[in-house]
Amino acid sequence: MSVSIAILAAGLGTRMRSKRAKVLHRAGGLALVEHVVRAARSLTPPERIVIVTGHQAEDVEALLRPSGVAFVRQGPPKGTGHALACCREKLAHVPGLLMVLYGDTPLLSAATLEKLREAQQRPSAEQSSPAATLITTALDDPSGYGRVLVDAHGNVEAIVEHKDCTAEQRQTRVINSGIYCFQADLLWRHLSEVQPNPASGEYYLTDMAAILRGHGHSVRALHVEDPSELLGINTRIELAEADRILRERKARELMLAGVTIEGPETVTIDASVAVGQDTVIEPFVRLLGHTHIGEDCHIGAGAIVESSVIEDGAMLQPYTVIANSRVGKGASVGPFARLRPNAHLEAGARVGNFVELKNTRLGAGAKAQHLSYLGDTQIGAGSNIGAGTITCNYDGEKKHETRIGEGAFIGSNSTLVAPLDIGAESYVGAGSVITEEVPKGALALGRGRQVNKAGWVEKRRKKSSATP
Ligand code: UD1
Ligand code: CA
Repeated sequence: MSVSIAILAAGLGTRMRSKRAKVLHRAGGLALVEHVVRAARSLTPPERIVIVTGHQAEDVEALLRPSGVAFVRQGPPKGTGHALACCREKLAHVPGLLMVLYGDTPLLSAATLEKLREAQQRPSAEQSSPAATLITTALDDPSGYGRVLVDAHGNVEAIVEHKDCTAEQRQTRVINSGIYCFQADLLWRHLSEVQPNPASGEYYLTDMAAILRGHGHSVRALHVEDPSELLGINTRIELAEADRILRERKARELMLAGVTIEGPETVTIDASVAVGQDTVIEPFVRLLGHTHIGEDCHIGAGAIVESSVIEDGAMLQPYTVIANSRVGKGASVGPFARLRPNAHLEAGARVGNFVELKNTRLGAGAKAQHLSYLGDTQIGAGSNIGAGTITCNYDGEKKHETRIGEGAFIGSNSTLVAPLDIGAESYVGAGSVITEEVPKGALALGRGRQVNKAGWVEKRRKKSSATP
């Protein structure tokens, strides 16, 4: 049976105490609602997924639009029942199953949604398919969640919100996860019967359990033993918990696939990161965004790599910071190096401590080992950039390029004033300020000639003792 999915993501999330809509807060490298959309996408095509937006709707829609999902706007949010009712025009004519998910449950897996679909479609011995199935679990601390009241046959009688529970009902540890699968036609037929909650004035989707039952339909619970997937994020404490769980999941997935991670509880690896076999990741590493790391790499402690490609066998020494860059096969970077956007080390190139590269290509086997800034620079294969070399790429108005040929040797503490061409196999004397082209194979010296004044110290001493 075909499945449509509505994801409710219009609330502000008062308990986050934030200026930003709750579903935009990030855990495991993605916004909360992005995780939910990912899980939904594994079940049904994006055009069958409708996101209900309201608070900061533009931002939420901009974030999710590339995934191809549809949107409806909820005016002033009047509760989860009202949010779903906003989907009537888009979804009421679509037959089959309607799943409803909340945008603040980022740990939900595709496998669990698949189980929910199966459970909803599987007729039990005595009844046909239920009108709805909802996922429940038992929590040690169920406070804040709706409690699920179940009859002797395991059918759901009602869901009662924490605030509305009697003292006795509050003892129930079985909670509503907020993940439902409805027979779409029954839901749309009866959704308008939800009345505002007397205390809050909000329309609670959870009232549908009792309403459907009142019409003689059964509502079933799919009880899951492991509650970790069902965590709903309402506060920053829960946000941190979700982040921890997502990071742990990712680390486990990589370790099972052949990656060594030292101190996995200390590393942050976003869901979208790929890491090849036999790579070793040291403690406190952060691998973010769409980073791809090859096989047999070594990622030193405290390295931060964002949206970059690190090819097979490359070595990142500790505390290297890399963004939007590429490190070629067997290349080495750091410790304490910084690759800013569009740095590219070709195979076997080496960048050492306190070296900063921006929009710069270091050819195969080229080296810049100490204390340099290289910006908007092309460096040929096998060249050596001496300690302290600086490219002056900015004249106060525009950026200019430096081109260094293959096999060149740039002496220490050289200042290369761009635009500039330095020919292949040429030498630049240490301490030079180079402002003009250096031809292939030449030695360029751009510094004052050294003068030695013989006996100068002795002469000064005599002069000062002569004066009274
Ligand atoms: C809800 C359930 C509760 C369940 C818990 C599970 C209701 C009434 N209660 O409570 O039984 O145990 O989730 O996590 O449904 N939203 C809208 N529009 C609105 C209100 C909410 O889109 O008008 C969205 C929110 O953005 C959020 C989701 O619905 O993503 C859930 O809302 P929230 O206020 O967090 O519900 P809970 O109080 O956690
Ligand atoms: Ca919630």
